[in-house]
Amino acid sequence: MPAAAPLLPVIGGELRVPLIDGSDARYVNLDYAASSPALAVVAQHVTEVLPLYASVHRGAGYASQISTAAYEHARRTVGDFVGARQDDLVIFTRNTTDSLNLLASVVPGDTVVLDIEHHANLLPWIAPHGHENRTGRIVMAGAMIEETLSRVDAELAAAPAALLTVTGASNVTGETLPLRRLASIAHRRGTRLAVDGAQLIPHRRLSLALDGVDYLAFSGHKTYAPFGAGVLVGRRDWLDAGEPYLRGGGAVTRVTLDEAGWRTGSARHEAGSPNVIGVAALARALQELATLDVAAWMGHEAALREQLVSGLSDLPSVRVLRVFPDSTEPVGVVSFSVDGVDSRLLATALSAEWGIGVRDGKFCSHPLLERLGITEPAVRASVGVGSRRADVDVLLEALGRFLAEGPAWQYELVGGHWVAAEDHRPRPGWAPELGDDRGYYGCAV
Ligand SMILES: Cc1ncc(COP(=O)(O)O)c(C=O)c1O
Repeated sequence: MPAAAPLLPVIGGELRVPLIDGSDARYVNLDYAASSPALAVVAQHVTEVLPLYASVHRGAGYASQISTAAYEHARRTVGDFVGARQDDLVIFTRNTTDSLNLLASVVPGDTVVLDIEHHANLLPWIAPHGHENRTGRIVMAGAMIEETLSRVDAELAAAPAALLTVTGASNVTGETLPLRRLASIAHRRGTRLAVDGAQLIPHRRLSLALDGVDYLAFSGHKTYAPFGAGVLVGRRDWLDAGEPYLRGGGAVTRVTLDEAGWRTGSARHEAGSPNVIGVAALARALQELATLDVAAWMGHEAALREQLVSGLSDLPSVRVLRVFPDSTEPVGVVSFSVDGVDSRLLATALSAEWGIGVRDGKFCSHPLLERLGITEPAVRASVGVGSRRADVDVLLEALGRFLAEGPAWQYELVGGHWVAAEDHRPRPGWAPELGDDRGYYGCAV
């Protein structure tokens, strides 16, 4: 049976979590799109690297030399995985948001962006800081992909733009865009193409060289390597010519009290001590993904997505969110709203009563949700290589029960968030209850 078992072992795949009624259940992680679990091989590798962990680029000691080699080797592994061209730079950052902000700081002209983007691929362009003369121009996506491509083409024809930046896969609908076609539309007009790969790289192979992508940003924590590394890969000239993104040690060739000489290459934008563990973990995750048979990988996730979408569509009052009915090969990310149901309560009950982890909110994509007419928070279920059919079965059963009978426990609104009454679920001592500020901010709204 397709997707009966995980494709790769992940840490926490058999985790048991306490339920509100005092029992426990296997944790059903349907929140890969927010942060995916670590691959087991990644955790093993981190354990292997840690004893040799020391400063990178800064030490003569044996461990420093090994750590430096691991860091620089990871750069090559990442470049190879995404099909980087010979002269492309691989720059390590904190995450996709950081990578896109870095890219925004070096683009020598206008950027065209779609309205369906995650805030990380919207705000650096439409609300940049310190670069008032670089404007982001928004193209409203059409009702179909074809219409969207025509609108992008018309916008690029109307006025020159240095960059077109698009999401590879939507964090709300999982829909993918035809990157090769976008690249050729952009290149015909002398425009470069950047891809926000935060939701694409954990699910798909991409080649910068073959697909014509000029810049790619993605995050380790969504790519089975949750140790704080992100990446920007792409053409060197803008990155060498732009202002250093971070100012400090490692980015300079010479410093006086009046001026500094800045390096070119990746080091120009990587000042400060780098995150060698995060980078080594990311490289190890990509090596493992590279061993997957692509058809088996896509088949696994397509089967889970199909199970999710058809199961959700069978439930009364559930609306699965789509932007492009003609999008083919979406990734395993599915968002939905339920008429008359507060998604935040639903997500809280799924966790408390069933041990299911989903994402609720507006997914850092307010303009996209507005365009879909969604004014209240929605729910997102997402899968990956550690997911299996049983995960989706549990979600569909729980949802069916919730819709038919309502929650089986009492919940109350505290400070705008639903919490279970009489919640005595045990917690590790190192993660105590947060009290009124339950740690929700930013993208929870
Ligand atoms: C499509 C997309 N882009 C960018 C981001 C931002 O990623 P990060 O939080 O790792 O910076 C996300 C995160 O959810 C995303 O889904």
